[in-house]
Amino acid sequence: MKYFLRAGIVIVVLIIAFLAYIYSGIYNVSALVPHNKLTLWIMNTVGDNSIKHHANDDIKTPDLSDSSLVKMGFVHFREMCVGCHGGPGIEQSEIAKGLYPSPPMLSKTAKEWTPQQLFWITKNGLKMTGMPAFGPTHTDDMIWAIVAFTKQLPTMTKEQYQKFDNETKGESDEANEHAH
Ligand code: HEC
Repeated sequence: MKYFLRAGIVIVVLIIAFLAYIYSGIYNVSALVPHNKLTLWIMNTVGDNSIKHHANDDIKTPDLSDSSLVKMGFVHFREMCVGCHGGPGIEQSEIAKGLYPSPPMLSKTAKEWTPQQLFWITKNGLKMTGMPAFGPTHTDDMIWAIVAFTKQLPTMTKEQYQKFDNETKGESDEANEHAH
């Protein structure tokens, strides 16, 4: 009985200390102060495993080599992704430079993900990062086009990116949306 009483007191003290910390404002929410190693490990491990768990083979992948799909994906990428993620020969925007966690260059990291994972991330976004969900504003077909383009990024040269840009001058995300 005594043992349970002591354990109970310890738990209550811990809860009070925890609430005091939460309400005190001591924790620094600044995007300039990186997470400590434990928080970072938890966030990265939860994030990676959540993506792997949710982006499974139930998601059916269309033919991503279709060149018109890739081109349509480029138009979306130029409009919505390049500012944060950069591209071949294109720097990230000032907004992206201030984000924490900072958006990775997809030219480097896209090959680490399967098409299903890229689709899931783009459709759902990522909580507690600046990565938006594009599902509410884009159909699955459009998101697959973006994935088809993103998949090509790791092997794309500056010149090839520029060529896509020239070939789609004046085309916008909106125009694509109306075409559907
Ligand atoms: C406002 C900035 C912003 C925009 C716009 C944005 N992203 Fe992101 N994106 C992020 C951030 C931040 C992360 C998460 C980084 C992390 O978890 O460390 C991320 C992560 C990702 C990842 C996971 C990459 C990795 O290697 O961890 C993919 C894939 C991705 N974004 C695709 C896209 C696509 C495709 C678009 C456009 C349709 C897009 N993003 C638009 C900020 C953005």
